Amino acid sequence: MQQKNRIIILHKEKFVGDGMSRECYIHPDNKDQCIKIPHKTPSSRRSMKREVSYFKRLKKRKKSFLMVSSYLYQVETSKGIGEVFELIRDHDGSISRSMKHYLSLGDENIKQTILEMVEVLRQYLIKEYILFSDLRTDNILLQKISHTESQLIIIDGIGDNNQIPFLEYIPILGLKRQIKKWEKLRNELIKEFSCDPDKIKRFNE
Ligand SMILES: Nc1ncnc2c1ncn2[C@@H]1O[C@H](COP(=O)(O)OP(=O)(O)OP(=O)(O)O)[C@@H](O)[C@H]1O
Ligand SMILES: [Mg+2]
Repeated sequence: MQQKNRIIILHKEKFVGDGMSRECYIHPDNKDQCIKIPHKTPSSRRSMKREVSYFKRLKKRKKSFLMVSSYLYQVETSKGIGEVFELIRDHDGSISRSMKHYLSLGDENIKQTILEMVEVLRQYLIKEYILFSDLRTDNILLQKISHTESQLIIIDGIGDNNQIPFLEYIPILGLKRQIKKWEKLRNELIKEFSCDPDKIKRFNE
């Protein structure tokens, strides 16, 4: 059972993965949640704080988290303060793999299916007006929801890393930035994975 005000002990066997700014562990009390611990640098802590406060505003605005791993709450752990998010798992219980992983398999059919899912993701981000700063193929997981169906879920890079608070309140300016940021993902898909540019829309198309 989850108890508030308890220090959660994080063991190595719960480690899921890490990146430039944090480590991710399975929550010992809940297999569908993960705890992210920022590296002990001021910039990692700052960006985590910024992300969490943006998520809180998104929740207040009742945004849909259908394609974003949702932020849940803060905990104290043996490795310091951590932030709890939804842990993304496939229908068989295994932790979902990244879009990068699937694209790296070099299978044309998988690639085409992923590009269709990328279009669904684009429409979702436009509809919800959720800002993103670091959409790379390793920050997006491909969640298998059944034997035949999958969806993309963003696990990192939500919010604006440029510390321009008004972007989220002025969609015309925010959109300009979204177009630029989306172009980075588009270029990664074209350059790194030889995807057909005609099959990936620009953000404002
Ligand atoms: N919600 C999640 N569900 C499943 N796995 C996750 C989740 N969040 C993170 N992970 C795993 O943990 C790794 C590190 O997490 P995350 O990308 O948040 O760290 P980061 O340091 O912010 O990364 P970056 O270097 O991209 O800034 C991910 O690459 C992924 O393997
Ligand atoms: Mg990451």
